[in-house]
Amino acid sequence: MSDTNSHDITATTEWTALTEHAAEVEPRHLRSLFDDDPDRAGALTVTGADLVLDYSKHRITRDTVGLLTDLARAAGLPARTEAMFTGAHVNTSEDRAVLHTALRLPRDASLTVDGQDVVADVHAVLDRMGEFTDAVRSGAWTGSTGRRIRTVVNIGIGGSDLGPVMAYEALRDYAQRDLECRFVSNIDPTDLYEKTRDLDPATTLFVVSSKTFTTQETLTNARNARSWLLSGLGTDDTGAVAKHFAAVSTNAEKVSEFGISTDNMFGFWDWVGGRYSLDSAIGLSLMCAIGREHFAEFLAGMHAMDEHFRHTPLEQNLPVISGLLGVWYANFFGADTRAVLPYSQYLHRLPAYLQQLTMESNGKSVRGDGTPVTTTTGEIFWGEPGTNGQHAFYQLLHQGTRLVPCDFIGFARPHHDLPGEDAADSHDLFMANLFAQSAALAFGKTAAEIEAEGTPADVVPHKVMPGNRPSSTILAEKLTPSVLGQIIAFYEHVTFVEGTIWGIDSFDQWGVELGKVMAKQFGPALHDPNPPDAGLDASTAALVGRYRAWRGR
Ligand code: F6P
Repeated sequence: MSDTNSHDITATTEWTALTEHAAEVEPRHLRSLFDDDPDRAGALTVTGADLVLDYSKHRITRDTVGLLTDLARAAGLPARTEAMFTGAHVNTSEDRAVLHTALRLPRDASLTVDGQDVVADVHAVLDRMGEFTDAVRSGAWTGSTGRRIRTVVNIGIGGSDLGPVMAYEALRDYAQRDLECRFVSNIDPTDLYEKTRDLDPATTLFVVSSKTFTTQETLTNARNARSWLLSGLGTDDTGAVAKHFAAVSTNAEKVSEFGISTDNMFGFWDWVGGRYSLDSAIGLSLMCAIGREHFAEFLAGMHAMDEHFRHTPLEQNLPVISGLLGVWYANFFGADTRAVLPYSQYLHRLPAYLQQLTMESNGKSVRGDGTPVTTTTGEIFWGEPGTNGQHAFYQLLHQGTRLVPCDFIGFARPHHDLPGEDAADSHDLFMANLFAQSAALAFGKTAAEIEAEGTPADVVPHKVMPGNRPSSTILAEKLTPSVLGQIIAFYEHVTFVEGTIWGIDSFDQWGVELGKVMAKQFGPALHDPNPPDAGLDASTAALVGRYRAWRGR
């Protein structure tokens, strides 16, 4: 059963209606939108699972929501959502089901896809991961010299790195503090060097995470890690590898070929896309850190957001609203980017994680059937945690010429009480910044207000804060494993909503292939004394020549 997403959304009457509506809304300022609709803040706030989304500070009227949800219906969003959840091959270019949502189904749920009991398979792997991580965390699992593991080093890249590292950082407060996780991703040898230079091989466990187990970066790092381990242990006994290496992959054959016992291998399935795989066995290093119970809470949070997304009317649906707002700004206001601004230092890797999730998914120029799209696709996601970003790029957000819709994310309860009187209000001060920034962006400050403060006339224009800069605010009580799961699932579904509107396949990533092939092809040109003709263009040939000269080749 396949489901080709290939409509031309721009040819629909719903699109035309939105184009006309956008022309009416565009000249309006958020100040007047709030003045004209005093109940707006309450009306444009929705809740789902434990998250609250206030989208009242967007350049929309209440009519906009109806027009956008009409567009979603015209794109077939409800049916396609159901198709995804039930295992239709919505990844058409690879003819695959897309079932990351099945990874967080409770044990007593049932879902059979292509003749396979998916829930039983998922929980069998989760149980094995639980046993393994219990052993590592308790010290029952020992390295080849009998010492307990103190550091878990995940080797992976893209979806096999960004999710685990982001969630590990986010949930540090739930982690076993005497077991550190590190993450090696870059094929730049300095990454492995810096992450291992102060480690004791006898107490180090590598988790090689790669869906395909063919990724150049990961296999190169894994081979170098194996050499580092064996030379550090002073042995050539490859049996030591069994005590210091585990693998996460869909490719058992390649894992064995590498020399990792399949007893230490944790599998997943081709219906889990790399950037949607944190909740599969790719989360093994995270589970080592936070333990199986917290990992289960994390999955339950994702499932709660899945249920919200699947069953809530479009008008009250958090990912639907956020995804449609992305379309609104990208296609009707010409915005290129969305800033993600978590007011939580624990979420400092969230923007990087979201870059892969959203941009590898929706950076496409053809629709599901291969015909060219007729409108802009793919928001550019970027950001930094507040308040650091305030002292870096917020100037452009407030007074620059570009429109940058923002997602503010914040939490009511802090994780720690620092000592000292001043520290008591630190979290309030922190969150006051979030609330202040979104309000300043929306409402700004007029020339008249600035003049009234006695500002010299020539300085007034510099100090005018135009406002009318849109943002969402996503609030939760506390950043728990469950809430993190909800936030991740929220953005997964935002991505799906946008891809569905644009008529594209959000689950393939053919655009990353050419560069990988060319890097392999170019390799010999950098070091072989008589390299074969790599077909270098004139610019690249000159750069490679300079590189070789500096390397003395
Ligand atoms: O960047 C391309 C990509 O295929 C991603 O989609 C994926 O997350 C990453 O490479 C790593 O792939 P693998 O897990 O197979 O090593």
